[in-house]
Amino acid sequence: MRKPNLIGKLRAGLPAPIRSLFDQLIKLADSRGLPVYLVGGPLRDLLLDRPSLDLDIAVEGDAPTLARQLAESLSREDKAGSAHPEALVGRAGTTSEPRVVTHPAFLTATVRVPGFHLDLITARSETYARPGALPTVTPETIEDDLRRRDFTINALALRLNSPWRVEILDPAGGRADLEARLIRALHKRSFQDDATRILRAVQYASRFGFNVEPQTLRWLKRDLRYLRTISGTRLHHEFSRIFAESAPEEILHRLHDLGALAAIDPTLRFDPPQADAFTRLRPDGWRSGRQLNTTGARASYWPVLAWNLNEPQALDVSRRLAATKPQRKALAAMPALQRLAPNLAGPSLKRSAVAEPLASFPLPALWAFSALTDDPTVRERLLDYLTKARLERPHLTGDDLLALGLPSGPQLGEILRRLRNARLDGEATSREDEEHLARQNDAEGRDCGDVWVNEQFLALEFACFTCLRGETADPTGEPPVGRGH
Ligand code: CTP
Repeated sequence: MRKPNLIGKLRAGLPAPIRSLFDQLIKLADSRGLPVYLVGGPLRDLLLDRPSLDLDIAVEGDAPTLARQLAESLSREDKAGSAHPEALVGRAGTTSEPRVVTHPAFLTATVRVPGFHLDLITARSETYARPGALPTVTPETIEDDLRRRDFTINALALRLNSPWRVEILDPAGGRADLEARLIRALHKRSFQDDATRILRAVQYASRFGFNVEPQTLRWLKRDLRYLRTISGTRLHHEFSRIFAESAPEEILHRLHDLGALAAIDPTLRFDPPQADAFTRLRPDGWRSGRQLNTTGARASYWPVLAWNLNEPQALDVSRRLAATKPQRKALAAMPALQRLAPNLAGPSLKRSAVAEPLASFPLPALWAFSALTDDPTVRERLLDYLTKARLERPHLTGDDLLALGLPSGPQLGEILRRLRNARLDGEATSREDEEHLARQNDAEGRDCGDVWVNEQFLALEFACFTCLRGETADPTGEPPVGRGH
């Protein structure tokens, strides 16, 4: 029989602890006489043979109550020692109480055990007070629940407990669209109700290699302006989902071409250099040993969005997308980096002269810029800074300097800075070199008299050093005239 096979396939794809949780849920729903269904993405993925650890379960009944009962029965059985040995064991192998988070306004709940969560929703209908508003939900049958969904391929349900129905519930022809590889909206106002579906349509099309069905595409284009009705928080969520895809640049490129990015914010665009930068930022994007991990890559996608924007525009975009504080800082840093770039391109620039100005920039912005710049020298210097120079420290620490007899105070920090620069520039390669340099700098500092010890005169201290050593500390080459004593 087709359905038990599908359920068997679903269970077989679940790691043992999750399978055990799933079995407990079915048992509990049976004992309460509540019909439960696998719905949406996980069923779509099962039919597409794409393994998914997500479990979205719809219940014709109160989902938050069922979720609490599930957590209680798991805890009870665990305490009595009758739970499946793996039911409460997470990826890390630690046993812990399941946690339930409920969202009463949406009649949903999430049951979390370490390393996994299960989403339980009350089968419902949704109405929208105005375009873009969050829906008002009313408990309904599973058929109604499927009708309120975004695309036919997500409007599918598989009954998980008895009495089993023979077929998958498929009121909108989702299986046929899976076969035909089409993203089809359920009704003509779908994008007006919820314009995040514009982003989701392109996202699914890219992820599965599907086409947006022609009538759906016409509705999508007609309703682009409804993207204005979507809050920053919801846009942020959708962009984060897009950034988690294997090829987010494909999606953003398509959204740009459709005019969806401009509909979100008039300055938001996605040009070919930005698409190239996304591919370079991924873990397989740079030469071996220089790549970012997945988290680092995703953090660096955000500032790529600010490429070619000025500061006010970058801030507008980060506000529109409800960027987090670190994301906002990274986006806002891009125009300044663009201005700094010519200074990083000069011939025979010392490594320290690259490292010092870069130290104040957020790392995701530097990674983004390294992937965006078309100047190979700037790119190499940025990568050298990101993967090596920024991690290099002098052999000596502040404590070592004190042990050498140097006095404590702000000059110690300055000497450490000089030691670091000397190391970066190959001027001090050993501990002995650094001790020598530290003593020499200390002696020179003492000769400079009382300006040395006053933090307020730090600028004068620099000048003092540079006067005595006959060089300039300023990478621009400006002589220290008028700044010293
Ligand atoms: N949904 C919807 N309209 C939205 C968002 C979600 O109708 N704007 C419905 C879809 O039926 C979707 C389900 O809610 O399948 C769950 O949403 P989500 O978890 O975001 O989607 P998945 O299909 O599980 O997608 P993914 O595989 O990307 O997690």
